[in-house]
Amino acid sequence: MQHFITISNLNPSAFLTLLEKAQNFIDHGHLIEKPLLRGQTLATLFFEPSTRTQASFELAAKRLDADVLNLSLANSSTQKGETLVDTVKNLEAMGVNFFVLRHTDTVMEHVAAILNRETHLISAGEGKLHHPSQALLDMLTIQQAQPKFENLSVAIVGDILHSRVARSDIEALKLLGCQDIRLISPENLQATDLLGVQHETDMDRGLANADVVIMLRIQKERMFDIQIDSEAAYIEHYQLNQARLALAKPNAIVMHPGPINRGIEITNDVADGLQSVILKQARNGVAARMAILSACAAD
Ligand code: NCD
Repeated sequence: MQHFITISNLNPSAFLTLLEKAQNFIDHGHLIEKPLLRGQTLATLFFEPSTRTQASFELAAKRLDADVLNLSLANSSTQKGETLVDTVKNLEAMGVNFFVLRHTDTVMEHVAAILNRETHLISAGEGKLHHPSQALLDMLTIQQAQPKFENLSVAIVGDILHSRVARSDIEALKLLGCQDIRLISPENLQATDLLGVQHETDMDRGLANADVVIMLRIQKERMFDIQIDSEAAYIEHYQLNQARLALAKPNAIVMHPGPINRGIEITNDVADGLQSVILKQARNGVAARMAILSACAAD
């Protein structure tokens, strides 16, 4: 695997291999270290804010013994008019051979096409469309609770329309054989182009007997053309609280990619409750990214 930019480039067995690799980087709840990227240089190039994704790629690279360079738009020359391609080619010329890129636009394929054969590109989020490393860590977290994807009912709740996490999670769930995916959101935040899934505006109905509940943030920074309900109305209809969670299966897990807006899409007691695996997702994020980087390094 030279690059890791979409889930759709993977077949089920390649995805399962990545899951297994990721799991093998966790030993009794702790992340292990392995010098599989010794002598390699990784640059994280983030054109959008990030806490978890950037930190976990950095931690993953360090656990694999790579040298790491973190760049953000604020201090890059794209502010002075340099193209993304020129930035990347210059860094490649300096010896960077792993790029972890987050961008607001659909740029990954274009960047992948200009890289040398021995350079790797890993997507850390591409516009509204792709967030494949999040999908890997989410599937790892689900698999740890429920090993069989075929029989799972998964509810994804919130701003589906602007969510690259939802899109990549849906692709991964389908790849792994999940048949029951419910997308719960207000009418104007649905993504009706997504097929083979259930679109639902009624949260109570959508949560009934779900095994997995994935909560999403309202992504106001991506809403240029949409009027959303008042915050109070959104909370009334779409906030995950204990009473609503009780509609899902008793052992259902609650997930959220972060950042959480406490008191909006989720209550404190649910976010911090026994069914929440949100912090497990954060830990799994490092393992998942170690798996991605080491799979690319072995290419
Ligand atoms: C998400 C993202 O950036 O797409 N966060 C993340 O990577 N953990 C979701 C979000 O911003 O709401």
